[in-house]
Amino acid sequence: MEKLSIFVETYGCQMNEYDSDRIINSLSANPVKDPSDADIIIVNTCAIREKADHKAVSAVGKYKKLKIKNPNLIIGMAGCVAQLYGKKLIKQIPHLDFVIGPREIPKLRDLVFDIKESASHRKINTSMDVEEVFQISPYHETGKVNGFVSIQQGCNKKCAYCIVPTVRGSEINRPLKEILEESRLLINQGAKELTYIGQTVNSWKYEGERFYNLLDYLQELDGLERIRFTTSFPRDITSKMINSMKNNTKVCRQLHLPVQSGSNRILKLMKRAYSIEWYKDSIERLRDAMPDLSLSTDIIIGFSDESSKDFEETMQLIEDIKFDTIYSFKYSIRPGTSGELMDSHVNEDIALNRLHKLQSRQREISLENNLKQINKRYKVLVESETKNNPNEFFGRTSQNKAVYIKNIDKKSIGEIINITKTEAFQNSFIGEPT
Ligand code: SAH
Ligand code: F3S
Repeated sequence: MEKLSIFVETYGCQMNEYDSDRIINSLSANPVKDPSDADIIIVNTCAIREKADHKAVSAVGKYKKLKIKNPNLIIGMAGCVAQLYGKKLIKQIPHLDFVIGPREIPKLRDLVFDIKESASHRKINTSMDVEEVFQISPYHETGKVNGFVSIQQGCNKKCAYCIVPTVRGSEINRPLKEILEESRLLINQGAKELTYIGQTVNSWKYEGERFYNLLDYLQELDGLERIRFTTSFPRDITSKMINSMKNNTKVCRQLHLPVQSGSNRILKLMKRAYSIEWYKDSIERLRDAMPDLSLSTDIIIGFSDESSKDFEETMQLIEDIKFDTIYSFKYSIRPGTSGELMDSHVNEDIALNRLHKLQSRQREISLENNLKQINKRYKVLVESETKNNPNEFFGRTSQNKAVYIKNIDKKSIGEIINITKTEAFQNSFIGEPT
């Protein structure tokens, strides 16, 4: 197959970003910035909330004009919406050539080849029984400082609101050898910081190895400066994991630990398998071990029959923990989940009001946390030059805080430098090299 120019539009989580890079690699394609220069356009979609899956369909819709101009253009939909609605999408969107589910990416090359060779358009690849799910590694721009490595596909938890197990299947843990090989590949292409991803990474296990051992193996990788991972499941936080993080010189002081609600009653309805007491105790143990650990979480507002008392318990939780960042969402009923069958639902306006209240208090907390860091020194891995401001550079601290820095030069990209934070905002800082 001749080298194709590809444009991939990505929605959703880091797993989708990773899959988009695998899509590019699987076709050995040349990524382009403008869709009108592409031979193939793929929209990689997210189904987590209803709004996200509507977006997917309209995103594909906007490429219709390009297809009319260039009938040879191939348009495909990948990701969770493709998996969820498969055939229906092919019927609904006449200019869509194929849909492909997340597990079938290793088959993309053959699929596109078939479309080009036989002109037998309109393919649906949404099988879940694919053995080589990890086969393709992601495309990595040479010299890019950070990258992702998947260690797990799918999810074995059954959270009542969540569509992920339906569209991404049950948990498959990636073999240790493949994780190390892919890490080395990205490090050889210039990556200094790798984020290990999966739906519940800390439940990873493979042939007797556990997540806490995996961190030890990763620490040994020459050339790798920083290790991050996401997402962790609260119930699977163990003392061994905490110790392993603490003693690992490369693991960043950052943890994303979705709590979802501050109410035990709601957590039970959500089938989250932990209590608020367990969650808070885990945070205490983590903070005892790593006092400079930055914490973020996810919260769903308005699940099932969330009462004002349940909501106040969530407000209290964010007061008690003082997360650095919260990703919060209004509950969206998803097809095929057990939540879909629960009959009492919170009124839309009430849910929206609660969401705004939570977000507005969290904005204050994030800023308060950040203001406490002014005039303190941190190590920043410099990632890139800022697009709009020449001579300004962007980097992150171990705590994943974004810092904008002047008075350094291009050679610092890819280096860890010392800075002092001089100004703090809600989501970022200004730093001076020191
Ligand atoms: N294991 C993954 C879950 C991916 S979904 C992780 O923890 O990152 C990411 C977040 O989306 C979840 O933590 C949850 O807060 C939110 N979410 C999932 N399903 C949702 C739904 N039906 N409505 C609203 N938010 C949802
Ligand atoms: Fe979803 Fe719960 Fe798994 S949020 S991805 S079912 S841990």
